[in-house]
Amino acid sequence: MKKTVPYIVNLKSQRVVSVMTAYDYPSAKAVSEAEIDIILVGDSLAQVVLGHDDTLSVTVDEMLHHVKAVTNAKPTPLVVADMPYMSYHISIEETIKNAGRFIQEGKADAVKVEGGLKRKEVVSALIDAEIPVMGHLGLTPQSKNLMGGYKIQGKTLALAKKLFEDALLLQELGCFSIVLEGVPSIVAQSISENLKIPTIGIGAGKHTDGQVLVINDLIGMKSKEYIDAKFVKRYDEQYISTVRALKNFKTDIENHVFPTDEHSYDMGSDIQDSLKEWKKEIKKILS
Ligand code: KIV
Repeated sequence: MKKTVPYIVNLKSQRVVSVMTAYDYPSAKAVSEAEIDIILVGDSLAQVVLGHDDTLSVTVDEMLHHVKAVTNAKPTPLVVADMPYMSYHISIEETIKNAGRFIQEGKADAVKVEGGLKRKEVVSALIDAEIPVMGHLGLTPQSKNLMGGYKIQGKTLALAKKLFEDALLLQELGCFSIVLEGVPSIVAQSISENLKIPTIGIGAGKHTDGQVLVINDLIGMKSKEYIDAKFVKRYDEQYISTVRALKNFKTDIENHVFPTDEHSYDMGSDIQDSLKEWKKEIKKILS
């Protein structure tokens, strides 16, 4: 059964909402088969798939390419497309056009934007255009330069209150859920307990209504120099097993262990004699 926005909102008081990023067809298939509730085609694509240092460089076209790959998998989770940096910062008209492409061309079910009060008009306009919006507060990676790096947010009472006000505003504007990233657990708990819509935590402790991780972090599909954030739990080591498989392939072909007859195609016994003749002909031509 395809999961919808009302279905997700309804989960609030029932059970934990599971959210996972995915950026392509096979990962979307896997996330769907695992019965996760929401697929986020995150702008973390920039780092974990495209190799950029931060999320600021990824464009609408690049995001759209991956949103299409995800929705081609016809996943049952709700698909949320992350609005990349500069796609909702210039004008309302451009915002709607960009978000509209994610829905119309990418077949996403909703979009996500970062920020609270300063995104008031943007969020309202998107919802007026019938586009469901997931909010994102706290450590918002697109504000990295303003924040002076990836710093935990809401650490003073005044800042925690501001986060809560932003969360209430996003709810009033009609957001169907809010990602809370990089905030103290107690702050995330207070916000979650006082909202009607589900909060989705990442580095926000155990009291949010849902949890999200970046799939490459979860499955360990990243090279050795990549250091995990404190909030990451690795459930697998797929980078290591991929390198191992590639090394085994290289050794096998060098030792002629692969391919074997099992992996090769025959032409049928009836034409073996004709083949022998053909080989003789080739020899004659070349001599
Ligand atoms: O881009 C992303 O993956 C995200 C999640 C970490 C919430 O925004």
